[in-house]
Amino acid sequence: MSKNKYLSVFTLATTEQRKANFKDYWEFTQQHGGELFELDRDLAIKRARLKYFQENPVNLKKPLVNPDAFYRNYVEMQDDPKSLDHMTLLLTGMYKFARHEWVGIKGAWDSVPDMANSHSIEDKISRVHLAEEFCHVRLFDEMLKTCGLDKVEWVPLTPFKEKIYEQFPKFPGFLMDTPAFVTELMGVTYYCHLSTMIDKIFVDEPEVCARLQELLDEITIDEVAHVGQRRNFIGPIGMKVSKALVKPFYTMFFNDMPEIGELFDVEQMIKDGLAFDFNQLPEHMIEKSWIPSYCIA
Ligand SMILES: [Fe+2]
Ligand SMILES: [Fe+2]
Repeated sequence: MSKNKYLSVFTLATTEQRKANFKDYWEFTQQHGGELFELDRDLAIKRARLKYFQENPVNLKKPLVNPDAFYRNYVEMQDDPKSLDHMTLLLTGMYKFARHEWVGIKGAWDSVPDMANSHSIEDKISRVHLAEEFCHVRLFDEMLKTCGLDKVEWVPLTPFKEKIYEQFPKFPGFLMDTPAFVTELMGVTYYCHLSTMIDKIFVDEPEVCARLQELLDEITIDEVAHVGQRRNFIGPIGMKVSKALVKPFYTMFFNDMPEIGELFDVEQMIKDGLAFDFNQLPEHMIEKSWIPSYCIA
């Protein structure tokens, strides 16, 4: 972890630089995920990795104290979050975050062109990006199973809300690109804080802790690449807009999940989002991920 190797994710870039970076990202993403299985919304390398985890499961030595509390609160919080133990809060919060992601990508998958109809490099990148997001939901599901939660359902939102999510990717780029970038940034910020919290909460379960970190790494490595990739869609004005969106977006999103405010420091997450420059990420993640050329010092 050397300091100042990378620059702020909000660093400006010229149209030429961005064009070259799209090309570079497209090369990277094909290597990284392997073959796209469009019908399954899956990628070969990610599928193999998940299979490895599933075939070599790790379990809690001491089962969850109160799985009923998880199942009662994971879709909607019913109890006073202060009455719940930290492990339950961590897991219900993680599910809620992943569920939002799942709803968003489900809507997008059906409304953007499939690979056969993707003619620009940006469209192709976006198709693979969505397939990766579906892999993340499977990895989150595996994280929950590792904690003994094998009855988790991925519950859709109300039909009206689902429709809104479906419209989002059809918006023109100048409206869609900045929130899409800030959402990815919010993901990386949350996953970094989540990783620290997993170490704390699973301190007496070293094997499960290590497995959860491995699963989360798989997700975070992709998300770091998504941050750079989505940033690459944005010109100088959009960069200012994005920076201004960090605080309201993070606040709105995390306020919706009571367990996040209970367990995490949302103010610090906002600060981390605004200051994000890749330097705080461990080397083993950087090696497998992707960073735009203009963010390298
Ligand atoms: Fe994701
Ligand atoms: Fe992402």
